[in-house]
Amino acid sequence: MAQRFPDGFFWGGATAANQLEGAWNIDGRGPSVDDHLTGGTYDRAREITVDIRPDMLYPNHDGIDFYHRYEEDIALFAEMGFTMFRMSISWSRIFPNGDDKTPNESGLAFYDRVFDCLRAHNIEPMVTLSHYEMPYHLVETYNGWASRELIGFFERYCATVFDRYQDKVRYWLTFNEINCGTVPFGDMLETGLMQGFEGSASDLENSLQNRYQALHHQFVAAGRVTRLAHERYPQFKIGNMDCFILSYPATCDPTDIMLNQQAMRKMNWFCSDIQVRGAYPSYAARFFEENDIALVIKDGDLDDITDGKVDFYTFSYYMSNIVGVHKLEQIPGNLTQGGKNPYLKATDWGWQIDSEGLRFSLNEIYDRYQIPLMVVENGMGAYDTVEEDGSIHDQYRIDYLRSHVRAMREAVADGVDLIGYTWWGPIDLVSAGTGEMRKRYGFIHVDKYDDGSGTYERRRKDSFFAYQKIIASNGADI
Ligand code: BG6
Repeated sequence: MAQRFPDGFFWGGATAANQLEGAWNIDGRGPSVDDHLTGGTYDRAREITVDIRPDMLYPNHDGIDFYHRYEEDIALFAEMGFTMFRMSISWSRIFPNGDDKTPNESGLAFYDRVFDCLRAHNIEPMVTLSHYEMPYHLVETYNGWASRELIGFFERYCATVFDRYQDKVRYWLTFNEINCGTVPFGDMLETGLMQGFEGSASDLENSLQNRYQALHHQFVAAGRVTRLAHERYPQFKIGNMDCFILSYPATCDPTDIMLNQQAMRKMNWFCSDIQVRGAYPSYAARFFEENDIALVIKDGDLDDITDGKVDFYTFSYYMSNIVGVHKLEQIPGNLTQGGKNPYLKATDWGWQIDSEGLRFSLNEIYDRYQIPLMVVENGMGAYDTVEEDGSIHDQYRIDYLRSHVRAMREAVADGVDLIGYTWWGPIDLVSAGTGEMRKRYGFIHVDKYDDGSGTYERRRKDSFFAYQKIIASNGADI
């Protein structure tokens, strides 16, 4: 069996505006959700404040200053050989309050410059329309996606950027990790359900009723903008984006098998079943009934969802965990907790490394949907050491990268229609979960630290050259 990736396979990296741009209040940008989050750590959740306090540090305010350094960063991506760069547009750079009638021209012009720069380097942009942020005004006034009115605001924002960038961007994703709106902390980042809340993010509570209603509004919004894109811009490809948290049954006890099926449906299949197939899945009714969820569904909503079927499926993949009814040691994860798998090692932040699980997931997803797939986030957060001569020997990251690329190559040989791979955080950026800088994902080191200090200087790590080699050989030389 040929051990190669298809010609034209996209290799690149993925980022989110709020985690790298900085310039949070420059050129007319309004504050977004993340601007109200302080830095946390592995075991201390981020704080949410309603007002921006001068005595607190908000790491997203400055990010890694991509706003002023994008040319240098994109040149480094090009040097690695990127053919795709996944980024998001900051909604509050375009509509500072979210419900404004007209867009902010300076914000639109910034992304023109970024897309032009990418195209000059032959890098295809892929844009996430909403990556864990929304204008904070929408939280204050509407409690985020709890309100139906958000649908119209989001449509206006998408129509604006579709029209503006129609000749520069072909690949679009609606909501980053839309399924994370169903879990604590994710509901805040994803759906903005935090009106008036102040305190530790771990104390924020939202009922399942609120989370699933907000999610319903997002499905309708995603459906409507996908339909609009298909009607007006035939060159566009629109994808969903799910956080795929693979789980295995902890034992062969049939109760564990059943529990795992339910966990997989709830976490991994529910949202994509809707966005790929265009309808709520058959198992939703029982889940809603048993959890006292009564959705308000208006006339036309289900048609919007049906019309909004995506062209390709994308997901993030970092880790796996186990579920079962017998006693399990819990281990932290990507917005969720899971059971510890004795056969796997974990990162410095406790995320269990499972490259074989990526091949398994790709096969499962492709068997289920049979549309093109892209892995749009994969990576490891780790402590890095800068040696005296400035070099950074991150062999652990290279090992992680290689094992996951090998797993994808196996999946392609298994018959999966995989069209691209964008590593999460090709350049160090602010962690979404903890707000830390020291949780580093990059192939490029950024001289920026958790106390806000640093020169922002960029430096190539050993992994930079490892990825460059992988890309140059289209995944043959791992
Ligand atoms: C994904 C998000 O969940 O994981 C990213 O889409 C995030 O925004 C990434 O940064 C890694 O998580 P963290 O918490 O380590 O930054």
